[in-house]
Amino acid sequence: MSRKGILLAGGAGTRLDPLTRIVCKQLLPIYDKPMIYYPLSVLMLGGIREILIISTPKDLPMIRTLFGDGSQLGLKIDYVEQARPEGIAQAFRLGADFLAGEGATLMLGDNIFHGRLDFFRTALAREQGATIFACPVRDPERYGVVEFDGEGRAVSIEEKPTVPRSNYAVPGLYVYDGQITEIARDLQPSPRGELEITDVNREYLKRGELFVEPLGRGVAWLDTGTPESLMEAANYIATLEHRQGVKVACLEEVALHMEFIDGAGFDRIVAALPKNSYRAYLEELPR
Ligand code: G1P
Repeated sequence: MSRKGILLAGGAGTRLDPLTRIVCKQLLPIYDKPMIYYPLSVLMLGGIREILIISTPKDLPMIRTLFGDGSQLGLKIDYVEQARPEGIAQAFRLGADFLAGEGATLMLGDNIFHGRLDFFRTALAREQGATIFACPVRDPERYGVVEFDGEGRAVSIEEKPTVPRSNYAVPGLYVYDGQITEIARDLQPSPRGELEITDVNREYLKRGELFVEPLGRGVAWLDTGTPESLMEAANYIATLEHRQGVKVACLEEVALHMEFIDGAGFDRIVAALPKNSYRAYLEELPR
């Protein structure tokens, strides 16, 4: 499977207004880091180094200031504007040049996972088709909902159904093969005027190539859509980091761990950081 990743950080963030009036949702803090660090770390832990970040004309410059070309983390980051919010699947049209006909992983910039990422690595190892993930939740009607059989083949998938057929929500992480460009190109907007990611997945389902990996109990998928869930996500990360003395989604640490950078590259980034607890954590890491 291709080792390209698209990180989509679009959306108007209206549900979190006034928090998101100036700064986009994906740059809001989750305890000690901007939210976008968490999904970026997931892509990196999957071994993905070529990444396209898509965001609004207003927010893209800020994200670019944060990561630059990514080389300090051993990444190659490109940027594309999403001028109008016309749906998640628009990412593949905007990213057509970047993809150059290859498959890609799409990750939404407001999705946070914590735990063993084996489910993601299994998906990346699959040569063909699409893999989505399934996480049991109490409020499936807020998400894409998937029904699947014992062999991990999807049976049905629906976007925010009033009467969900299962309690398995589909998180914002999707692994696609090279068919994605053509599928996204031929997609029709939904009644709400958006190119729906669920319609992409439905097309793979129709082709008999939509695979589902359920997230085990050892994986947390956190919501960030409301002020309450934002707070809960921050508390979750803070509790874990205090108790265990390890950081979640610390990009410099991940880059070193994945050998995207060597010890000297790591020391260079650390030396440029202001003296605070984040830097102290990095200074104490074994290398
Ligand atoms: C989007 C997708 C939905 C998915 C969710 C995950 O919904 O349309 O299928 O379950 O992301 O975060 P949104 O958050 O844009 O309403």
